[in-house]
Amino acid sequence: MGAQRGSDGFRALAGRHGPVGEVMVDALALERSGTPDPPGRWAPAVAERRGLPPAAGLGPATFYADLAAARGRRHVRVCAGTGCFAACGGSQVGEVERELGVAVGEVSGDGAVSVQAVRCLGCCYAAPAALDGDEACAGADLVDQLAGRSTRTDPAIPAADATGDPVLLSGILSGESGWRVWPGVAAMCTPEHVRTQVERSGLRGRGGAAYPVSAKWAAVVGHRSPVVVANGDEGDPGSFADRLLMERDPDRVLEGLALACFACGASTGILLVRSEYPKASALLREAVRRAYRDGHLGRRVHGGPVTLDLRVVAGAGSYVAGEETALIAGLEGGRGCARSRPPYPTQEGMWDAPTVVNNVETLAAVPWIVEHGGEAYARRGVPEQTGTKLVCLSERFARPGCYEVEFGTRLDRIVHELGGGLRDDAELTVLQVGGPLGGFLPASRLDVPLTDRGLAAAGAALGHAGLVAFDETVEPREVLRYVWQFADAESCGACSPCRVGSRRGLELAAAGGPPDPGYRRWMNVLEQASLCAFGRGIPTAVRSLVHACDGRLDDWEV
Ligand SMILES: Cc1cc2nc3c(=O)[nH]c(=O)nc-3n(C[C@H](O)[C@H](O)[C@H](O)COP(=O)(O)O)c2cc1C
Ligand code: SF4
Ligand code: FES
Repeated sequence: MGAQRGSDGFRALAGRHGPVGEVMVDALALERSGTPDPPGRWAPAVAERRGLPPAAGLGPATFYADLAAARGRRHVRVCAGTGCFAACGGSQVGEVERELGVAVGEVSGDGAVSVQAVRCLGCCYAAPAALDGDEACAGADLVDQLAGRSTRTDPAIPAADATGDPVLLSGILSGESGWRVWPGVAAMCTPEHVRTQVERSGLRGRGGAAYPVSAKWAAVVGHRSPVVVANGDEGDPGSFADRLLMERDPDRVLEGLALACFACGASTGILLVRSEYPKASALLREAVRRAYRDGHLGRRVHGGPVTLDLRVVAGAGSYVAGEETALIAGLEGGRGCARSRPPYPTQEGMWDAPTVVNNVETLAAVPWIVEHGGEAYARRGVPEQTGTKLVCLSERFARPGCYEVEFGTRLDRIVHELGGGLRDDAELTVLQVGGPLGGFLPASRLDVPLTDRGLAAAGAALGHAGLVAFDETVEPREVLRYVWQFADAESCGACSPCRVGSRRGLELAAAGGPPDPGYRRWMNVLEQASLCAFGRGIPTAVRSLVHACDGRLDDWEV
């Protein structure tokens, strides 16, 4: 057995009442939508109605941004994510506040309107963006759209293939239907066959850590009642690949999850979708209904021995809740805080069951691998990193959108050939690669292959392969302040190095001057002693920005 988990008391209690925690976040979200009052007024009662102590409701309700946010009858979520920040230097938030006459986090006096700042709505290709209720709108005239002065636009994600034989975009671009291999697998194949193909493919996780998928699956095989969770939290601002897959090819994502469950011996699969993607949630739920109707899910699927249930669960607004241990805590109804590992989720995950967490894009590659064979997949990309990857180009590019590329494609090709360089002939100053825990590269350092090793050697990281371009309209010091603002806003607060360090970093960056003399020491603590990769990754991101800015942020050198 591993170390005690922080929420053990609640988990044991919730377990005695049945896993009521699993519906807690949904129940809180429902209550939240009907009241302008703060969580203290309504969250304890939600827990008590389920036989849980008040704190079981208050804890998550004060943790998740959507539950904690003040709510008027019209609730507008304006994006303050990196892609939108790069598009207009952060001015969009103030403009929306002024137009609607209400500040972020507030409700207008008559209860009519409230504004919440969120970090990415998956519309980074058309930034800035907002959600008015559940209706998305985006574009340079965002404020006019929200004010009703111009037509609402929710542009589709531009998607293109640069491989000649797409794996992930084959459904979206060529109309290849989902659920092609599952009937045969469920009726006639063995789990070993699926695991072997995935092992031969060399497929690694696309959620950021690049862990071999077959090894993660093997860790739960033979254990009692494993669970597979598809991670559709896509927290990295600048990434919209999972959103593209979930909205435009939900059957492929579900088929990948079904195959993963089959390979792991799991009869339950859960797909967690971030709350900022309401359309993806709705489309996936509809796809699940269709899959039951068509006999892909349920009891004795396609006449074989398999029983499989899949369900879709919505998140509630937290970046760290995409980290796998935090994700599981959230699915159990708790605050989405990360915990130390071991035990790994494959040892003790959801309600202590061995749990595999895989990213949505990872799972979407599995049907192709099973259909074409692991060796065929392993011939794609480069030997050190096989396969293809979706990369997302932000609004500053001349041709923003989501592109499928082979691993090993050079970054300068992606930026200049696929993305067309920057729009309006603007000059690229720095390129953020891989989200807030990735890194920044200067325009002169794009001669690197898109692989984990190639990017790490250049001081960046692949992450989920979101590419956010900055031009000279945003000052390096503003980008630095933004990095710390994100860290401070999204730190889950479970450990002091990150909770305190990210606040200190923001204070110093906001003050504009050089950091204090103790800076190197506490950055070291942040990097070495943080509980999860969030805190540990912030110094790397800051360091890479300092290096990319070529002398303009040297006082922040770590
Ligand atoms: C702070 C933080 C946030 C994360 N957010 C996500 C996310 O939004 N989506 C995701 O798939 N993985 C995310 N991850 C990675 C997950 O912890 C986990 O490694 C991943 O979901 C496993 O899937 P994979 O093996 O298919 O990559 C995050 C990690 C950290 C440290
Ligand atoms: S490093 Fe930050 S995000 Fe991770 S557990 Fe600690 S406080 Fe939470
Ligand atoms: S939509 Fe604003 S950063 Fe992605």
